[in-house]
Amino acid sequence: TRPLVIAIDGPAASGKGTLAKRVAAAYGFAHLDTGSLYRAVGVAVLRAGGDPADPAAAGRAARDLHPEDGILADPDLRTDEAAQAASKVAAVPEVRAALLEFQRRFAEQPPGGAPGAVLDGRDIGTVVCPGADAKLFVTASVEVRADRRLKELQGRGIPAIPSDVLEDMKARDARDSQRAVAPLRPAADAFVLDTSALDADQAYAAAIAHIGSKT
Ligand code: C5P
Repeated sequence: TRPLVIAIDGPAASGKGTLAKRVAAAYGFAHLDTGSLYRAVGVAVLRAGGDPADPAAAGRAARDLHPEDGILADPDLRTDEAAQAASKVAAVPEVRAALLEFQRRFAEQPPGGAPGAVLDGRDIGTVVCPGADAKLFVTASVEVRADRRLKELQGRGIPAIPSDVLEDMKARDARDSQRAVAPLRPAADAFVLDTSALDADQAYAAAIAHIGSKT
C-alpha cells in the first residue's frame, strides 16, 4: 500500500510548521519542512559569498545540496537572513527543479518506513504532491503573522522592531506569491484554514477534522 501524503502549505508564520509537526506526530508519519531546503540553499550561497538572487549561484548550491547530511538541522537556517535568502533562491526555476526529486521521494518512500508523510511548504499541494490525500492551506492576516513572528523572536531573545518585522513579512509574501514558478497559492482542492482568530490547539483540531474526512 502506498504511503498517505498530507500537504500543508501557507505563508510565513501562518502556523503551518507547528501544525505539520503535530499532525505527523499524531499519525506516526515522517515530516519534511520543505522551507528548510530553500533556507539551506540560501545559506550555502551566502556562505560562499554569492548573491542568493543570482540564478547560477543558487542553482549550483541547490544541485550540491545533500539534505540527508544533517544540514537541515543547522540553527543558522532559522535566522531572518536565511529566510530572506531562501525566498530569493526559491524564485529560481533551477533551484525548484533540483529540490523537487528529494521532496517527491520523501513523500513516496517516507524515511524510517513510516506509513505516511507530512510535507509543509508553499507549493506542496500544487506542484510537489498534487495527488496528496489531504491538502491544507494554512493562513492568517499579515498583521497577525508579523505579531507571531515578533513574539517568537522576542522569546528567543532576539531584539526586533515591530514595523521592520511587518515590512519583512510583506516583502516575503510578495516575493512568494508573485514569482513566476510555483507561486504561493492554495490548490483548488485545498481546505483553507485561517488561523487569525485561532490558537494552536484550535487550528490543530480543525486540521485533524479535515484530514480525518479525507483519509
Ligand atoms: O517556510 P519557510 O519560511 O522556512 O520558507 C522559507 C522560504 O522558502 C519561503 O519564503 C519561500 O520563498 C521558500 N519556499 C518555497 N517553497 C516551499 C517552501 C519554502 O518557495 N515549498
